[in-house]
Amino acid sequence: MSWIDDIHEELHELDAQGLRRHLRVVDVLGGMKASVDNKDCVLFCTNNYLGLADHPKVLERSQRALLRYGAGAQASRLVSGHFPIHLQLEEITANFKGAEACLAFPTGYMANLAAVSALVGEEDVVLCDRLNHASLIDACRMSKAKFMVYEHLNLDDLKKQLKKTEKYRRQLIATDALFSMDGDLVPLKKLMDLAHEHDSLVMVDDAHGTGVLGPEGQGITHHFPLKHYPAVVMGTYSKALGSMGGFVCGPRIFIEYLLNKARTFIYTTGLAPAVCGASLGALEVLHEEPKRVERLWENAKKIREGLRALGHDIPRGAGPIMPVIVGDNEEAVKMSEKLLEEGILVVAIRPPTVPKGTARLRLSVSAAHTDADIDKLINAFKKL
Ligand SMILES: Cc1ncc(COP(=O)(O)O)c(C=O)c1O
Repeated sequence: MSWIDDIHEELHELDAQGLRRHLRVVDVLGGMKASVDNKDCVLFCTNNYLGLADHPKVLERSQRALLRYGAGAQASRLVSGHFPIHLQLEEITANFKGAEACLAFPTGYMANLAAVSALVGEEDVVLCDRLNHASLIDACRMSKAKFMVYEHLNLDDLKKQLKKTEKYRRQLIATDALFSMDGDLVPLKKLMDLAHEHDSLVMVDDAHGTGVLGPEGQGITHHFPLKHYPAVVMGTYSKALGSMGGFVCGPRIFIEYLLNKARTFIYTTGLAPAVCGASLGALEVLHEEPKRVERLWENAKKIREGLRALGHDIPRGAGPIMPVIVGDNEEAVKMSEKLLEEGILVVAIRPPTVPKGTARLRLSVSAAHTDADIDKLINAFKKL
């Protein structure tokens, strides 16, 4: 059999298991509206939690940066691709996250790879929550540190595993803040206290907490009254801030070390100026309109209550990410198709993104959803 035949066969197997993925064109129409397969719909599957992706100020700031600096950074940041707008974005991000310093990356995935590899290596151990995002898991695996997994949000299990790690130079606990597929939150205060007892470092992936948690969307470290702080916090501009890119926040000396060591920073072109402009615009809007965060949580509460009243199983969590657990892969896809017929786009999430037997509709809410959008969603679920 040729390699093409092998590939056909593998794709066929995916089809048979209801796991084949397809690209779908989503023609965004402004706000949370879009056209999909020539059908107008409301998006309940984006990470645009604050509705900033097309905010006029964000677009204007992005355009200004495009015209001032050109389309691309033209080189790696360490060559000649470090523009004043990169520096400005990093200073403002550090200040927003309450950190000493920050380094921005073209994607959050790259930021995770960089941060973990800079924190741990061959002589170390990394303990990873079972349901961490794939980019954080990949980062842990690629770091060459001994890789250990603890049960999701289970601090007793983490404690048990920490006892086995004393022979290593450093122990790093790596966790998502707000889990991307389950919508539940790490109990960061308790985890930090445990880490402190065991002299372990903590790195938090705050991709979904940034713009969502804390009184002004600063993220997980502003959500809990912490006594001890994570060594490093990673976040993204690509979710609530509606733009693109990732960042790592931490002590200045660590950021200095990162830009000397991180392959995903050194060997890639700097973030495009227009993207930096959009992120700066989003941070500005968030600063001026912190009520967006409140609106997001109100919308999430309304939807949770509405779906639970219809008898849907919505597990833990209170924020904007809501899994409706279906179980069967094909059934989840069918439900998503029926919802689209009713003008609602919610995507079915299947293994390996989520554990086997837990295929789900991953609903995500935005501050930009109107009351009418929410009513439409609940009515669509009523018809399922
Ligand atoms: C928890 C988490 N971390 C990191 C990432 C990667 O971010 P990006 O999409 O900017 O690469 C994502 C999203 O894709 C995520 O959900």
